[in-house]
Amino acid sequence: MSTKAKLDYDGTSYEMPIVEGSYAERAVDIRSLRKDTGLITLDSGFMNTGATESKITFINGEEGILLYRGYPIEQLAEESSFIETSYLLIFGELPTGKQFEQFSNLLTYHSMLHEDMRHFFDGFPSNAHPMAILSSMVSALSAYYPDSIEPDSHNITHIARLLSKLRTIAAFSYQKRQGRPVAYPKNSLDYCGNFLYMMFSHPAEPTYEPDPELVKALNVLFILHADHEQNCSTSTVRLVGSSQANLYAAASAGVSALWGPLHGGANQAVIEMLKEIRDDGGDPALFMQQVKNRERRLMGFGHRVYKNFDPRATILKKYADRLLNHLKIEDELFDIARQLEEVALSDEYFIERKLYPNVDFYSGIIYRAMGIPTEMFTVLFALGRIPGWIAHWKEMMEDPDVRIGRPRQVYTGERRREYTPRESRRPSLP
Ligand code: CMC
Repeated sequence: MSTKAKLDYDGTSYEMPIVEGSYAERAVDIRSLRKDTGLITLDSGFMNTGATESKITFINGEEGILLYRGYPIEQLAEESSFIETSYLLIFGELPTGKQFEQFSNLLTYHSMLHEDMRHFFDGFPSNAHPMAILSSMVSALSAYYPDSIEPDSHNITHIARLLSKLRTIAAFSYQKRQGRPVAYPKNSLDYCGNFLYMMFSHPAEPTYEPDPELVKALNVLFILHADHEQNCSTSTVRLVGSSQANLYAAASAGVSALWGPLHGGANQAVIEMLKEIRDDGGDPALFMQQVKNRERRLMGFGHRVYKNFDPRATILKKYADRLLNHLKIEDELFDIARQLEEVALSDEYFIERKLYPNVDFYSGIIYRAMGIPTEMFTVLFALGRIPGWIAHWKEMMEDPDVRIGRPRQVYTGERRREYTPRESRRPSLP
């Protein structure tokens, strides 16, 4: 296999090295392209652009493979916990017993919010979307930990703080929305159990005891969301971080990027879509026709990278079944979702375009069964994705060759023209 690519341009031939990854995935290294040729590349949506080399996550979209630091997602979902997986992503190896204990203790130690920050929640309207609260509060953390603004502050304390406090902020935003007092974290509980406790504690009810099945399901959900290489929000975190803005600022930007319905907001959009189908009489075939007519988009379907199946969706469908059985509940939205999948998998429109359920298609069914309201779904995606953002930010900050992210453009606007005074300007016809 050749180790160089050739570009013939304007009568000259240029050679560019080929870079090879661990699975022989190949890229043309164009880092000297502009210097050598005066050309830049144009690749809107970054369909063909590798922004970095990375050792964190591997995806093979054709075969539906997802590895974190080399470990298959299926094994981690079955055997690991969210905190162990977070450690793996951020620090590169599975922790020993002692490392795990130290890291867990650090998360427990940093779970509280500064009491002044608690009052911020009163300032938001009661119907504020929790993602708006989350991004603001994460950014505000840098005001409480000003040493995070120093350029060399990528230390374990800030990492633990962000990981731990994000969960507290998320639960507080929900309690406030319900008009209830917040529930402070409880040190005796593990990460996911503590989150459920802070979400569902009620001052007038007996002490909330998290159901181990719910805790397991939440661990699995968070593990499956924990990283997905250079997705929109992670790329945003890297771009913001590349300017040496602090970790909290970069993570806050990640929350905002995640919010959109084409990214993490899709889990909320899926449930809204399923409810709409149910309320319109529950006919998936009718809805699918609208999708094929391009009047609608089938939310929770399709992926930029997966073109066969999304391994996360396969695991989540199984867990949705398992949790509904455990809780002995029926969910007609789950039935509609399964019918939509069935129609899609045998329909030419979807087969041709390689559209399959993605991670967001079944996650909402599990969240609903847990009693989590729809508007909190994307917040839960953020809780799951935070170790990935941190891992990529840390990898970038430790790379001596990293430079500020600054794409170029092809300018297609007006060429230079002279300024005219307002009174002599003529309106142009549309
Ligand atoms: N429903 C109907 N048609 C679709 C869908 C869909 N969900 N997704 C893609 N298509 C069609 C699209 O219209 C296009 O058809 P054509 O070539 O005839 O114009 C073709 O498939 C290629 O789609 P694309 O929009 O060019 O693909 P993309 O890689 O730019 O977009 C995507 C990927 C995930 C944004 C898109 O599939 C989508 O909008 N899905 C629904 C939203 C969703 O579920 N997002 C969550 C993604 S997974 C979790 C995450 O990363 O946050």
